[in-house]
Amino acid sequence: MNLVFLGLPGSGKGTQAVRLARRLSMPHLSTGDLLRAAVRDKTPLGRDAEKYMKAGELVPDSVIIDLIGEKKASGDLDRGFILDGFPRTVPQAEALGELFADGHGIDKAILLEVDEDEIVRRLSNRLSCESCQVIYGQVTNPPKRPGMCDRCGGRLIQRQDDAPEVIKKRLGVYQEQSRPVEEYYRKRSLLLVIPGLGTPKEIFARVIAGLDITVDA
Ligand code: AP5
Ligand code: MG
Repeated sequence: MNLVFLGLPGSGKGTQAVRLARRLSMPHLSTGDLLRAAVRDKTPLGRDAEKYMKAGELVPDSVIIDLIGEKKASGDLDRGFILDGFPRTVPQAEALGELFADGHGIDKAILLEVDEDEIVRRLSNRLSCESCQVIYGQVTNPPKRPGMCDRCGGRLIQRQDDAPEVIKKRLGVYQEQSRPVEEYYRKRSLLLVIPGLGTPKEIFARVIAGLDITVDA
């Protein structure tokens, strides 16, 4: 099964994609996580991407499409995948379609629908593990020990792009460049719209019901 998660920054793509990937034992690929790791490691990709990410802008399509192409070439995506944060422009969606044209393509694009007020609340409260990328909410799902990841003991950090003015910019970029991706999948009857308000567990139950699969919640 080949799945992609769409939705505003903070709509819960990472939270749901990680959960689904664990339950289905499928690879989860977040372009945001890959880019943040590249920034931390100061690779050429990271040095190039950092200025866009800090400003809340998208990294150029060619860079991101090459990144996904490399993952495909490595064989990591051969037995299905869950993508989160990609595609987020129509050229990226077209490139993804072409990359997997030899297989059965994308099965579903799952859109998590959340209003902007809730987004601002969530992102201002988010913490994520520097080592394993598990996501916490300081109010909704706090770690057991402050500042430390429950899963791996790693350090919890706040993302640089979760500053209020950058959140605003990211929301504007989504409306302009990523909304058309929803339309791209809707036209192809591949869009699964999931109301994104409720607990992560409730939303996960909606996702698996929408996909018509059976896994433990
Ligand atoms: P990326 O990392 O993809 O960020 P994003 O799309 O802005 O989305 P987020 O990761 O902020 O949110 P999310 O939807 O994953 O929500 P989460 O589960 O964390 O991209 C970052 C940057 O990288 C981009 O701005 C761009 O520069 C670059 N980039 C990445 N991909 C690119 C691409 N394809 N092309 C070009 N550039 C690219 O949840 C958020 C918070 O809410 C958490 O605290 C969580 O605990 C909480 N939460 C989750 N679910 C619930 C719930 N149901 N109720 C209450 N709280 C909840
Ligand atoms: Mg994310």
